[in-house]
Amino acid sequence: MAPIIDVADLHKTYAGAKSEAVAGVSFGVEEGEVFGLLGPNGAGKTTTIGTLTTRVRPSSGRVVVDGIDVVADPVAAKRVIAVVPQRPNLDRSLNALENLTFHGAYFGFSRRERRRRADELLAQLGLEGRGDDRVDNYSGGMAQRLIIARALMHDPRVLFLDEPTTGLDPQSRLFLWDQMEALKARGVTLLLTTHDMAEADRLCDRIAIVDHGKVIASDTPRGLRRVLPDAEGLELRLALAADPAASLRALGEVASEADGEDEWKVRIYGSDVAPGAAIAAAEAGGARLVDLRRIEGTLEDVFVHLTGRDLR
Ligand SMILES: Nc1ncnc2c1ncn2[C@@H]1O[C@H](COP(=O)(O)OP(=O)(O)OP(=O)(O)O)[C@@H](O)[C@H]1O
Ligand SMILES: [Mg+2]
Repeated sequence: MAPIIDVADLHKTYAGAKSEAVAGVSFGVEEGEVFGLLGPNGAGKTTTIGTLTTRVRPSSGRVVVDGIDVVADPVAAKRVIAVVPQRPNLDRSLNALENLTFHGAYFGFSRRERRRRADELLAQLGLEGRGDDRVDNYSGGMAQRLIIARALMHDPRVLFLDEPTTGLDPQSRLFLWDQMEALKARGVTLLLTTHDMAEADRLCDRIAIVDHGKVIASDTPRGLRRVLPDAEGLELRLALAADPAASLRALGEVASEADGEDEWKVRIYGSDVAPGAAIAAAEAGGARLVDLRRIEGTLEDVFVHLTGRDLR
């Protein structure tokens, strides 16, 4: 089956720009997947989404959504996609309900049908009874939920979300995560950008990391973690006067550091280190176990490992 989003060798140079904003990006997203585009500021994520949502004209390359060439047939593409943009773009001259029903009218829904859908979506996004409010009076979190409601008015098969949770409080973020998971469960394909690595890890089936307009890695969150040389292992806190590292070296590569008086934090790297064996070896060396946990590199570690620490 062909991927529902298919980007092939996409290039974009903005007029007057010295370098390419997107410099040969290719990726595919299967129907029903949640796909994450991660990358530092200026990496080209919003530009890539722009080309997929008809806002930005590619310099070259192909962008296809649900079999529709987005450049050749933007009107048909718009029927299957929706976008939650990085910068809020509600119509401030309209109230919340009108923002939804005007969108519905644009897609040809009858007056009755668009009112029904708008009421339903206001309720679904926790905005029941707030339809008559001016959107100027909405908080940031409410505005973001209204933008998502608007995106869902025409039942898109593919939803693009550009940093949907940036600036939201933990409650709103959890709420949006639930919404995104519910959309996925209904078979909607999601392409999302975020700088929140925990969010990407939790929501995304697959992730592409972009930097300087190019995809530099693409895999499942778990697969990406494997690029870290010493991501997995056990961490033990041990009580002992002297460094207990030596007694554990038989089990794998060991790193230790003093952690308070007569306590040590010791890491044994490797995916197959048995906790029982580690405890036995530590106790044979005279240490008392205080705590033990499995460690795993985070997606943030992967991101910094791949993209470095320089500011963009
Ligand atoms: N309308 C535009 N005109 C000229 N240059 C632009 C325009 N939009 C973006 N750029 C430039 O293109 C590059 C990519 O920007 P883009 O917004 O796609 O990055 P991004 O990955 O979404 O970054 P962020 O994480 O900060 O949102 C940047 O160098 C940016 O300055
Ligand atoms: Mg952006």
